[in-house]
Amino acid sequence: MNSLIYYYTGTGNSLWASRFIADALKGTRIEHMKSYSQVPGKAIKAIGFVFPVHMWGIPRPVVEFLTKFTRDLKAELKTGTEKKSDRYYFACALNAGEVAESLVQLDRILSGIGAKLSLGVSLAMPSNYIPWGGPGPEESLQVIYKKAREKLDRFCENIKIQESSPPEKGSLKEKLLYSGIIYTLAFPQIHGMDKNFTVDSSCTSCGICERICPASNISLEEGKPVWHSHCEQCMACIQWCPTQSIQYGEKTRAYPRYHHPEIRVSNMYMR
Ligand SMILES: Cc1cc2nc3c(=O)[nH]c(=O)nc-3n(C[C@H](O)[C@H](O)[C@H](O)COP(=O)(O)O)c2cc1C
Ligand code: SF4
Ligand code: SF4
Repeated sequence: MNSLIYYYTGTGNSLWASRFIADALKGTRIEHMKSYSQVPGKAIKAIGFVFPVHMWGIPRPVVEFLTKFTRDLKAELKTGTEKKSDRYYFACALNAGEVAESLVQLDRILSGIGAKLSLGVSLAMPSNYIPWGGPGPEESLQVIYKKAREKLDRFCENIKIQESSPPEKGSLKEKLLYSGIIYTLAFPQIHGMDKNFTVDSSCTSCGICERICPASNISLEEGKPVWHSHCEQCMACIQWCPTQSIQYGEKTRAYPRYHHPEIRVSNMYMR
């Protein structure tokens, strides 16, 4: 299938899922949402979006990508003969158990410009939100990965037959309280949340945090990372630091770090 997957990731789960889907579909290319420049040509018959759920909704940088993508798609539809996009759109929202309204949110954005999210699935993966703790014991992680592979197998088969069904969503509580209120309140605050990051004396000045940050929010000054208040809260810097020198508040000192075991740090470099 001639298709393209746009992905965003902090700790590699979404990159791993994108690669998994691309391998199963054949003829599928993957591209980081930050590298987006234009809507792909008509030869691309299916487009996928793979991203983590952040605060019960679509992460801020994914919203920014979607704003550009849908603006360009709308312009393309205006100049062309079609009024609706006839491509097949699918999405996979990775989360730690609460997908909430993320996929409904995506469906709403796409339908606003005459495209339809045909298939949107939630994929439970280990949590990378380290301020709330580690990802859990190794045995539980293996169970999660096994279930995720099985679900992705079914997802890929459904994409191949261009199945259409309503996007998966969470409970009414998740919708009203978490997506409806907390997501909306937290969204404008995200950039400044990096004030909670600190670095300790074990930092080796390796520069990984600076290279890995998708928001170019970190620079090394006198060999130590400095955060510049346009954070996306992806947790890449704290999770990938090889010496665990970065903390978020005090509690993270005691929590194990997490990234997807099949993704290497070099796969994550943004610069
Ligand atoms: C800032 C932030 C907020 C998160 N919010 C949620 C959430 O609302 N619901 C949920 O189930 N998981 C949440 N998570 C967990 C991630 O969605 C999950 O671990 C995902 O697999 C990470 O994917 P990645 O490695 O591609 O970044 C959050 C993680 C972060 C960093
Ligand atoms: S990744 Fe860790 S060790 Fe490397 S520069 Fe950043 S804080 Fe220091
Ligand atoms: S500063 Fe850290 S958490 Fe914030 S966007 Fe950059 S890598 Fe992600």
